[in-house]
Amino acid sequence: MADLVYLNGEFLPLAEAKVSVLDRGFLFGDGVYEVIPAYAGKLFRLEDHIQRLNNSLAGIRLPVSQTLADWKAIFQPMLDNSKDQYIYLQVTRGYAAKRDHGFPEQIVPTIFAMCSEIKPFAGRLTGVKALTLDDNRWQLCNLKAITLLGNILLRQAALDENCAEALLVRDGHVVEGAASNVFAVIDGVLVTPPKSHHILPGITRDVILEIAAANEIPFREANIGLEELRSATEIWVASSTREIVPIIECDGVAVGNGKPGPVWERLDHLFQTYKLSLA
Ligand code: PDD
Repeated sequence: MADLVYLNGEFLPLAEAKVSVLDRGFLFGDGVYEVIPAYAGKLFRLEDHIQRLNNSLAGIRLPVSQTLADWKAIFQPMLDNSKDQYIYLQVTRGYAAKRDHGFPEQIVPTIFAMCSEIKPFAGRLTGVKALTLDDNRWQLCNLKAITLLGNILLRQAALDENCAEALLVRDGHVVEGAASNVFAVIDGVLVTPPKSHHILPGITRDVILEIAAANEIPFREANIGLEELRSATEIWVASSTREIVPIIECDGVAVGNGKPGPVWERLDHLFQTYKLSLA
């Protein structure tokens, strides 16, 4: 079913998929989403993504009835096993007859899913530049909310400076990227901030920590102060669509020797091998 999207129980061409302007997703950004990679037609860590979706839905008090099997049945027909793709899934609090901040009495969630090709991110192999910026987002960053204005303004501010990602700083600590989790190699140890309401619990982040543990790569989950970040020999950002991307310059200063580092090279190789083993 090439080029079909899913909307509220139907598969239909993208151009025919329409929602009301009174949908609370449109009016309030009242909804949550997931981005789930699928390599050669196999959904990557689907259970983890659905668990995170359920946490996001519970966090915004929006119950849905879909089970893991129901979600699979929605995603599978959109996949092509000759491609690497990702599913974008969005669930909003649906249509309400009038605009009112309070939840409507009757809620029928709007459920939308589409599938796009994953184009390899060129910066993964070369490394990219990043900029640290003050994290001015809200306090519920652990929920994958569609309300991404904070994130997009921060990402765009980085792009405007020829950087591929913004590294967000809250209370003197780098917490995550505008659309990624952050890692640094400090004194030979791979460090990433612990899960909290200041970061999205990334699925790629979990996989990286599992791979590090299984391969005796020393790591810890700990806060990273700005000064520590400056002393890092490697900095990476990680997400489902870009995978593990080395940062070779941060705030105009080279990270390490200004090239992707040896810990990244090892972990990236292990990550690629793990991906292929599931496909
Ligand atoms: N974003 N932190 C933020 C703020 C993110 O938006 C993302 C991913 C991540 C990494 O999560 P994961 O490894 O599960 O992709 C961390 C997706 C890709 C997006 O918004 O398109």
